[in-house]
Amino acid sequence: VDSRKSWIRQPIVVVLGHVDHGKTTLLDKIRGTAVTKKEPGEITQHVGASIVPASVLRKVAEPLKKYFPKVKIEIPGLLFVDTPGHELFSNLRRRGGSVADIAILVVDIMEGFKPQTWESIQILKERKVPFIVAANKIDRIPGWKSNPDQPFLETIRKQSPHIVNRLEELIYRLISQLYEAGFMAERFDRVKDFRTTVAIVPVSAKTGEGVPELLALLTGLVQRFMKKRLVTSDEPGKGVVLEVKEEPGLGTTIDVIIYDGVIHRGDTIVVGGKDKPIVTKVRALLMPRPLQDMRAHEGKFVSVEQVVAATGVKISAPDLDDALAGSPIFVVSSEDKLEEYIKLVREEIESIRIKTDNIGVVVKADTLGTLEAVVEALKRENIPVRLADVGPVSKNDVLEASVSEKQRPEYGVIIVFNVKVLHEAEEYAARENVKIFRHNIIYKLIEDYIGWVKQLREQEK
Ligand code: GTP
Ligand code: MG
Repeated sequence: VDSRKSWIRQPIVVVLGHVDHGKTTLLDKIRGTAVTKKEPGEITQHVGASIVPASVLRKVAEPLKKYFPKVKIEIPGLLFVDTPGHELFSNLRRRGGSVADIAILVVDIMEGFKPQTWESIQILKERKVPFIVAANKIDRIPGWKSNPDQPFLETIRKQSPHIVNRLEELIYRLISQLYEAGFMAERFDRVKDFRTTVAIVPVSAKTGEGVPELLALLTGLVQRFMKKRLVTSDEPGKGVVLEVKEEPGLGTTIDVIIYDGVIHRGDTIVVGGKDKPIVTKVRALLMPRPLQDMRAHEGKFVSVEQVVAATGVKISAPDLDDALAGSPIFVVSSEDKLEEYIKLVREEIESIRIKTDNIGVVVKADTLGTLEAVVEALKRENIPVRLADVGPVSKNDVLEASVSEKQRPEYGVIIVFNVKVLHEAEEYAARENVKIFRHNIIYKLIEDYIGWVKQLREQEK
């Protein structure tokens, strides 16, 4: 007899896009809080996750009744994850895909696509995450008359014709850029088939215009196309480690997104570690308060007995110092299954980390998620990898690269994402003729390397 209770969980919505295009402001608007105002330099410092409950969705969508009379809200809410840049998005990984069910790609309509927009779209494509585009900052179109918190379809009727034209031009630019990235796109109210066409919703995170449609569309899309994926039950929890963080008084903790099942205080968990999977017991489950952001509550978490999917939770437990961001986390259902879970975690991590005797490049990155993204990008270009691991660049990495360098100089390099190069490694690399590539945007990193290889080949001619 199956006594498991099952339910439809909150879809996990990730917000990503170029720096300053308005991700945090948009989330704030949605939550009705003002985290942005508290942020030093208005730059996102930490990841936050927050749930917008169905009641709020209902209220926000109220003015849309006359356009979409039949939309009924069946999900318990939406779980939003904020990502500074795209790095943390990479950690929302899951074997062969992502923990994110759907994404909002935020683009400043005045600026159009920027490097991190292209980067975001690349990762969305790779991880097969459906997305909608929030064409943000419409209030900045010169001459725009703001109608705070109104649906886009209302506010657009109140603009003068030349503003409407200007908006159309700007949307058209986004449609072309999306086409270039391999996607058909259209303004949301003109989309005929949401499975083949990306919807663009013009919004202002500042005034709230268009936000009703943005939320209604997210809700409608997940309810129509993803219900199966959203069914979960009170089985042992599954999740992913977004970040590994020191907390005063708690030591090393992990911020986790639970996408399936339940996790209790005292549960045994398995999580990927630097040298081997870590087996430990949950000492505390720490939750941000509803409708507020994790990072607004440093030191003000609420300790709870259990959490259910979908949620973002901080886990305090012994032995988490070597935990890896981007690693899967599993609750162990019974002691006799422990070995099975350890194997599962080990295999998943070994599929990302590479250690071979082949001639190829060396890759170092800050998390499993970014490492996987860099290695995938290299594979797409048919660039062989000798070694890929998490952590700073050490002398040993240079040694490995120099082995490749002696046979195939173009592979005698280290490709570095978001980690330090130790001083002695830097010196050693110079002596061994091992070139080090660094960039904080993955596709630029690969481009730089490929450009250099081309130059090398020209010189050989
Ligand atoms: P990072 O976290 O640094 O990547 O940036 P972000 O994408 O979260 O951008 P953020 O929300 O911090 O916004 C950047 C700036 O744009 C801030 O000064 C916001 O006030 C402003 N801004 C965001 N959305 C809007 C909008 O719709 N209209 C106007 N006029 N300004 C906006
Ligand atoms: Mg931000």
